[in-house]
Amino acid sequence: MQLSDRQYRLWAEMLENKTGVRIAGHRDDFVRRQIVRRVRELGLVDVEGYFREVSQPGSGTREWGVLLDRLLVKESQFFRHQASHDFFKERLMRHLQSASPAQRYSVLSVGCSTGEEVYSLAMNALDNYRCAGQAPAFSVVGIDVSVEAVASARQGIYPHRHVEAVPLPLLNEYFDTATNSTMAVTAALKKRVGFFVSNMFDENCPGLASPVDVIFCQNVLIYLKNWRRRDLLNSFVEKLKPGGCLIVGPGELNDWQPAGLRRVAYPGIQAFEKLLPKGISLERDEHNDET
Ligand SMILES: C[S@@+](CC[C@H](N)C(=O)[O-])C[C@H]1O[C@@H](n2cnc3c(N)ncnc32)[C@H](O)[C@@H]1O
Repeated sequence: MQLSDRQYRLWAEMLENKTGVRIAGHRDDFVRRQIVRRVRELGLVDVEGYFREVSQPGSGTREWGVLLDRLLVKESQFFRHQASHDFFKERLMRHLQSASPAQRYSVLSVGCSTGEEVYSLAMNALDNYRCAGQAPAFSVVGIDVSVEAVASARQGIYPHRHVEAVPLPLLNEYFDTATNSTMAVTAALKKRVGFFVSNMFDENCPGLASPVDVIFCQNVLIYLKNWRRRDLLNSFVEKLKPGGCLIVGPGELNDWQPAGLRRVAYPGIQAFEKLLPKGISLERDEHNDET
């Protein structure tokens, strides 16, 4: 059984229409194999029929979810882009030293995959609150379109080699041994986070019900066409608090010049700060040279 080029194009279009994700050329064969494998698993012989079934708005949703889990790239790591995490930590510390540190700090991780990014942000946040001598008043919400990834994030169990990137003091504090080869996130860390299956293009997605301080979106935009990247980020800007930050992966967008935002000058990162309404100012941010 094989997919014709026409059939393959239909699948690729469906994936892009539903998630924004474009299949990179080098993944064509992998994606074709995954679809055929799934058709065989279901004991079907008709790829066209399977496509029709999956495209059905109501009844196809569950099966689409199963297939989607196999087609998306869900690779993630703890503290994957260190400079961005350092910047996040500094921003939060600035908030804790501001005039209203008790105000709840809210963070959204978009395309959180299996949870490493969310837990990394939450560990740094807890560390900051402790250093500042304040009770934690923050939440980190992760959203991902993959049901499997979100289930795994909620479990918070990782192989030893995966947690190697976690600094030892944080590892000792926020992980327990689960089995000979895995470590589990502690209940105290889990309490600070929430994971939801959601499409980042859904403007009512969890974590965005009220304005947020930080939107962390890394290794997700690279799969989207440029115009979709811009549309998505423009919608995120709307959801940021004044003074809030959008932190994307370095090099993930080059030609975006949104009004009402300024690019943060911090070595090795790509982040934007939402400008405060005229007449209001936070204390000076030494990492911003553009006003
Ligand atoms: C490569 S992973 C990046 C994980 C994490 N942000 C990191 O940098 O380690 C990309 C994630 O984006 C998710 N994703 C792709 N399209 C999405 C969409 N439309 N809505 C929500 N998540 C999406 C995928 O399921 C995948 O888990």
